[in-house]
Amino acid sequence: MIRQLNETDLPEMAELYVSVFASEPWNEQWKLSVVHERLTQFLTGRNSLAYGCFESNRLVGFVLGEHLPYLESRHFYIREMCVDSALHGTGIGSKLWNYLEDQVKPIGVTGIILETERGTPAEEKFYRKMGCRESDRMVFMYKRLG
Ligand SMILES: CC(C)(COP(=O)(O)OP(=O)(O)OC[C@H]1O[C@@H](n2cnc3c(N)ncnc32)[C@H](O)[C@@H]1OP(=O)(O)O)[C@@H](O)C(=O)NCCC(=O)NCCS
Repeated sequence: MIRQLNETDLPEMAELYVSVFASEPWNEQWKLSVVHERLTQFLTGRNSLAYGCFESNRLVGFVLGEHLPYLESRHFYIREMCVDSALHGTGIGSKLWNYLEDQVKPIGVTGIILETERGTPAEEKFYRKMGCRESDRMVFMYKRLG
């Protein structure tokens, strides 16, 4: 079952996030409090939207982001997406992605934008399978400070 998420879901979202990104291929050690702040920021924005997939009342995956105007249309920025590591490759991510598309098209969204790491299954398999391509025009830039 997929439904829209709100602030009451944040603790469960944060716990899922910590466990997914502690696993391969990310192996990241996130503090729960930091994830909570990060997800709160993404979830409480003016145009934020988040959808979660539940199995037996347990959150097993979510996608969240925000939509913003761009010229005559809108873009949706995915800020986070994850699925319970034990359930990767079982179709939950695809269902969430399709649900998101169905929700945002009627509000005028014509494109989805996201950043992810090169060479991960997310980049090489999942997002490409969902129809994403690297942009010819735009580049993601970064300056390391210190
Ligand atoms: C990326 C992610 C959200 C995809 O969700 P998912 O439920 O595993 O995806 P699906 O089961 O719908 O898979 C769709 C396709 O992508 C491929 N795929 C997705 N994730 C994969 C993975 N981790 N390993 C191998 N293949 C994967 C599958 O081959 C599948 O294609 P198929 O139907 O032809 O087999 C999920 O794997 C995940 O949470 N990964 C860790 C966190 C992450 O990388 N998040 C994105 C970072 S920005």
